[in-house]
Amino acid sequence: MRDTNMNRRTFVEAGLAAALLAGCSSRQGDEVPAVVEQPEEAPEAVEPDQEADESAPDEEPPANASKTLVVFYSRADENYADGGTEVLEVGHTKVMADYIAEALEADTYEIVPQKAYPFSYDECCDQASTELAGDARPELAGDMPDVSGYDTVFLGCPIWWGSEPMVVRTFLDAVDLSGKTVVPFTTHGGSGLGSVPSNLEARIANATFLDGKAVAGTAVDGARDEVVQWVHGLGL
Ligand SMILES: Cc1cc2nc3c(=O)[nH]c(=O)nc-3n(C[C@H](O)[C@H](O)[C@H](O)COP(=O)(O)O)c2cc1C
Repeated sequence: MRDTNMNRRTFVEAGLAAALLAGCSSRQGDEVPAVVEQPEEAPEAVEPDQEADESAPDEEPPANASKTLVVFYSRADENYADGGTEVLEVGHTKVMADYIAEALEADTYEIVPQKAYPFSYDECCDQASTELAGDARPELAGDMPDVSGYDTVFLGCPIWWGSEPMVVRTFLDAVDLSGKTVVPFTTHGGSGLGSVPSNLEARIANATFLDGKAVAGTAVDGARDEVVQWVHGLGL
């Protein structure tokens, strides 16, 4: 295990000095993750004469109905912000995941660690560094999703030490995404997509990978249009 100072120095050398200045952690340990299905619109009232009209064609479901799942890990609490720290009510990656799900009327699944990460950004950085160095597999809360009905899976996370948090690897070990179209997305403090696309490609066999999208965490609140434009440009 590398010592804390070395970890932080490495972080700076990676061009991520700004990310050193802040922190966060998760209070999500008690939540039970589940696939959240987009609510269907309430059916319109049917007049009696309409009911009798059996020649009316069946309504086609939206082309992407229930075929896309947005999986994400995101951590609220104390986190990096430009020149300091901020306390987040909702994690940046969750904000981005919601943009994607809304744009595609997709279902969502949140990866939730069984044991919450520390509230403190610095403590979380230390723990994340240790987990990365040890290729850890932190346990997850709740049931894994049934992905059999989905053609496309967006997979999103914050960048931690240039990579995906180890809870994402736990998820990938447990859920078989082979045969799917997989689309990575991240929020970050300067590293962009980091090693996430190549790590996913190494861990998911026989999947089709589309170009991912990275948004700076501190810019995510104003990035809805940019994200939606990217999603619609993927040709799904
Ligand atoms: C433990 C930890 C490690 C981080 N490492 C990096 C990093 O290597 N590169 C980077 O650009 N940002 C890094 N960040 C910043 C986060 O990627 C960024 O704040 C992200 O938007 C947080 O998303 P979330 O709120 O969904 O968890 C790190 C943050 C934490 C908490």
